Amino acid sequence: MLVLSIETSCDDTSVAIVCERGKVLALESQNQDEIHGQFGGVIPELACRNHTLRILPLVDSVLQSAKINWQQIDGIAVTSQPGLVGALLVGVSTAKSLALIHGKPIIGVDHLEGHLHAPLAQWKDYRPDPDFTYPFLGLCVSGGHTSLYEVQDLGKRKVLGQTLDDAAGEAFDKFGKLMGLGYPAGAHLDKLASDGDVKKYEFPRALLKDKKDLNFSFSGLKTAGRLTLEKHAEANKKDLAASYQEAIVDVLVEKLDRAFKQTSIPRVVITGGVSANSRLRMRCQEWAQEKGLQLLVPPLALCTDNAGMIGYVGLKMLERGWTSDMTLAPSPSTKLGLHAQ
Ligand code: KG4
Ligand code: ZN
Repeated sequence: MLVLSIETSCDDTSVAIVCERGKVLALESQNQDEIHGQFGGVIPELACRNHTLRILPLVDSVLQSAKINWQQIDGIAVTSQPGLVGALLVGVSTAKSLALIHGKPIIGVDHLEGHLHAPLAQWKDYRPDPDFTYPFLGLCVSGGHTSLYEVQDLGKRKVLGQTLDDAAGEAFDKFGKLMGLGYPAGAHLDKLASDGDVKKYEFPRALLKDKKDLNFSFSGLKTAGRLTLEKHAEANKKDLAASYQEAIVDVLVEKLDRAFKQTSIPRVVITGGVSANSRLRMRCQEWAQEKGLQLLVPPLALCTDNAGMIGYVGLKMLERGWTSDMTLAPSPSTKLGLHAQ
């Protein structure tokens, strides 16, 4: 079985082909960082226009590089929620047109469902443990989301905790911007922090007092970051980055540990753009080893927004006969009816 998948929920245009066992055969993504970087954030209208220009050449290119033709494709998966509605519309309209032209079923996929399953896909020499099963704990950390889930089955998840204000990626990006790093700043800050002192500056860790609390809050940290920068204008940037990053990672690992204690589920994934963070990956691996847990962390290509994860979920949905029809419409938020609850 072969699925062609499309992801355009924000500013990344991405197309993939995924085959049986959830192996990503081909994946091509184009970010728009240079376009939006000058504004310091995503401009939805520009994101839509550039998706429109890029999507069909990417479809052709992926088919060519995987040496697959349209007759061999069994379905077209597309992110239909949540995201920027105009950006989603480009992907959904393209998928519908291709489905009509080539006579293929269409599968609307929830973007968060994609992130949560990204570490289960095979990619190049990355092979997830075949024994990894539902239920599992999923920490989804990106520019727009910071949520902790109990993933019970395909399309069935329960929110255990979520951010009350900003996402972890937003906290990385805003502080990085103030430090004059590139856009988005997460990866730059990660690199800068690699040989900094994590204890040099004190930053707040929010919502830790009540041991049952699984929610997150990063707005106080953002303010503390700005104030620290103002106060220590001559500070060592590496130490600042390392101390700030540690405050985010400490909270994420602590909440994961609480979720494990509360649910006793010994299988965990971390996913989303921030799961590319080297310190978070290392700390989670140490934690999982200490507690004897099975931890899956996606390969870097599947951390940030990508069509590989959408193709993986699309393939699993197609196997269960969960297809959509031509009434499929983009939604800015997660809505029921896509088998994602
Ligand atoms: O999943 P994603 O591509 O898009 C959203 O759905 O938001 O995540 C993008 C976010 C950005 O905030 C970016 O700064 C962050 O992921 N990010 C990182 C790293 N790589 C990307 N944050 C920390 N460390 C990284 N290495
Ligand atoms: Zn995302």
